[in-house]
Amino acid sequence: MGKVKLKKEAKLKRIRQFLVLIFLLAFVTVIIRYLLLGKGERDKLGGNTEEVEEALQSSENRLPEVVDTHEDTSYDIYLPTNWHKHSGEIKKILREANVLEVEPMRDFLRRCKKQAVFSGSVFRVALEGGIKAVFKTTSDGNMVRDRMEETAYDLSAYTNFAYVPPTVHRTLECDFSGNGRAEKKSGFLSLFVDTEFDSLRYTKEQFCAILSKIDEEELLNYKVFNFVFGNWDVGPGNVLVARCDSGKETRYHLVAIDNEGIANLQRVRYGEAPFVRWLKCPGAGENIQDFPFDEVNRSGETSREMVARKYGQWPPKRQHNYALFDGAYWAQFADFIWGSESDVTDLLYPKRLTETAKEKLKSLTKESLLELIAQSAGITDFMKARVDGFIERRDMLLEHFGIDDL
Ligand SMILES: Nc1ncnc2c1ncn2[C@@H]1O[C@H](COP(=O)(O)OP(=O)(O)O)[C@@H](O)[C@H]1O
Ligand SMILES: [Mg+2]
Repeated sequence: MGKVKLKKEAKLKRIRQFLVLIFLLAFVTVIIRYLLLGKGERDKLGGNTEEVEEALQSSENRLPEVVDTHEDTSYDIYLPTNWHKHSGEIKKILREANVLEVEPMRDFLRRCKKQAVFSGSVFRVALEGGIKAVFKTTSDGNMVRDRMEETAYDLSAYTNFAYVPPTVHRTLECDFSGNGRAEKKSGFLSLFVDTEFDSLRYTKEQFCAILSKIDEEELLNYKVFNFVFGNWDVGPGNVLVARCDSGKETRYHLVAIDNEGIANLQRVRYGEAPFVRWLKCPGAGENIQDFPFDEVNRSGETSREMVARKYGQWPPKRQHNYALFDGAYWAQFADFIWGSESDVTDLLYPKRLTETAKEKLKSLTKESLLELIAQSAGITDFMKARVDGFIERRDMLLEHFGIDDL
């Protein structure tokens, strides 16, 4: 019996020694890791945004610039109806606030159990002051496209036709890939818009049911915005429906994202989906008159290969109509998510013009639009051609509704 007891005690002692050893090892590893890591890394390991924010606020001298996001606490920055009133202030925050955290949008959406079906390089960003934003960068560093998203916002604020999240073009230097190294990327920064809906999961009927929550005038004006400014890439993936509770009332607003399609040169016959200049051969011209609407073809594997050889790039995979015109490949392509052209035209053509839209449309001039665009994108031949398109489509719309007193 004594022998067995001794053996048992010896075994327990070994287990205790082993546990103490493990504990010591873990403790020493944590200490060594802490000493070896740089301060930046320690901040990163330090957890959530609130902690980082608190740390920043408690040491004012570490803030290079004071951006007081609480200047006016009487408005909710995320409420779309506040954006146009406080535009300058919100854009200043987006332009100047320090970035505290960056997370790939894909990871964020998956965490929220939402569909992450998009191709762009998009990040969810936490700014100082607790503001949530979205940073999108173009893979080819195409500055024009970055600026056009800000232009789209400025146009929305100027016309009041749609709610586009407040946006600025900006270069960020952040650890985008999570490998501890900061990279510089140019792109645009928009206010983050929260939505309870995951539209990409829905059938067309379900999506329309969500749209029916939107005030009719707001929806009509949103379509005017899309058509006049050539925002052809519309569909459930490029709108967010924001719920806004104020007191007893709940309202929903439609927020247009991914509006850089306005940068594409396009030709359209009223009521149809537009043709967008997709690919250019070297030496392609800038002619947009006499577009061959009646000489279009349907894309297929053979035509796609032919186009890829000639233009050095593949046209869209999904079947679409195309025209070859003045050295360029024009695609009547849109993300027909439910398989029909009406998926797009439903969001481009209003069935009537609201009084406010009528007045605003009549007041638009080439000069006023160029002046506005000069602030975000500068006045270039490229921009002048886009503004010509805006005015041309504005005229088409007014003509369609029999309004010609310009
Ligand atoms: N301002 C925003 N607020 C909230 N989510 C956004 C915002 N901008 C983009 N997103 C999210 O990122 C996704 C991809 O953005 P998007 O600009 O549509 O990229 P892509 O050009 O690849 O389609 C959207 O479907 C949406 O879920
Ligand atoms: Mg998109």
